[in-house]
Amino acid sequence: MKVKSLIVGACAAAALLLAVVPLAGQIGGRATRPKVQRPDGPVWEVIRKNCTACHGIDDYAFYSLDRAGWQKLIADKHKPDGDGLSDADRDVLLDWLVMKFGPDTKPFPRTYVPPEITTFFSDPEANRLMNRACTKCHGVDRVEKTRNSTEGWRVTLVDMRERGAQLSDQELEQLVEWLARVWGTNQDN
Ligand code: HEC
Ligand code: HEC
Repeated sequence: MKVKSLIVGACAAAALLLAVVPLAGQIGGRATRPKVQRPDGPVWEVIRKNCTACHGIDDYAFYSLDRAGWQKLIADKHKPDGDGLSDADRDVLLDWLVMKFGPDTKPFPRTYVPPEITTFFSDPEANRLMNRACTKCHGVDRVEKTRNSTEGWRVTLVDMRERGAQLSDQELEQLVEWLARVWGTNQDN
C-alpha cells in the first residue's frame, strides 16, 4: 500500500514536472532515453546557435560514428535545407561528436523499456549484485559518490550495461529502485 501510494505520488509529481522540463524517459511502456551532458564553451555555442531550436542533444547518444559518418548523418537528417553550419562551426561540432560519440563508444540502445518489478532489493542483495556486476571496471565508491533521480539511475545503468556490466532487465530495475531509494535525490536531474 505504502509503496503504491508513493509511486502514485511520484507519477503525479512527474506529470507536473513534464509540463516544465521534458523528462529523460518514463516508465510504462516507453523506452528509456539517454541523457547527454551539455558541453562547455565553443562547442555549446555552435550547438546552441545551430541545433537546439528544433530538438535537444540527447539523441546524439544513439549513435557511434566516425567523422564522415556524423557528417553524413547530420546531412541526411536535415534535408533539404541542410545543417546551416559554417565550415568552421561544422569542424568544432564534428570534433566534439567524434570525441564523445566516436566509433569506439557504445551507442545507447533505443530499445530498453523498463519492466515493472514486484520484488525489491534489501541492502545486502543490492550490495551483492554491485560487487558482482559493477566492480570489474571501477569501485562501488564511484556509485556511492553519485546521486540521481530514478530515471537518472536508469539511464546510468543502461549505459553501464552497454559498457559491459552484466545485468538482467529484472536486476537492472531492482537496482534502479534501490539506488533511487538509498542514493536518490528529490529532483529530476
Ligand atoms: C530546423 C530544425 C532542425 C535543426 C535546426 C536541427 N535539426 Fe536535427 N533533426 C531535425 C529533425 C526534424 C530530425 C528528425 C529527422 C528524421 O528522423 O527523419 C532531426 C534529427 C537529428 C538527428 C538524429 C536523431 C535520432 O534520434 O536519430 C541528429 C543526430 C540531429 N538531428 C542532429 C542535429 C544537429 C547536430 C544539429 C545542428 C547542427 C541539428 N540537428 C539541427 C530537425 C532539426
Ligand atoms: C565494463 C566496465 C563497467 C562496468 C562493469 C560498470 N561500469 Fe560504471 N562506469 C564505467 C566507466 C568507463 C565510467 C565512466 C564514464 C564516464 O565518465 O563517462 C563509469 C561511471 C559510472 C558512474 C558515474 C557516472 C555518472 O553519471 O557520473 C556510476 C554511478 C557508475 N559507473 C555505476 C555503475 C554501476 C552501478 C555498475 C554496476 C551495475 C557499473 N557502473 C558497472 C564502466 C563500467
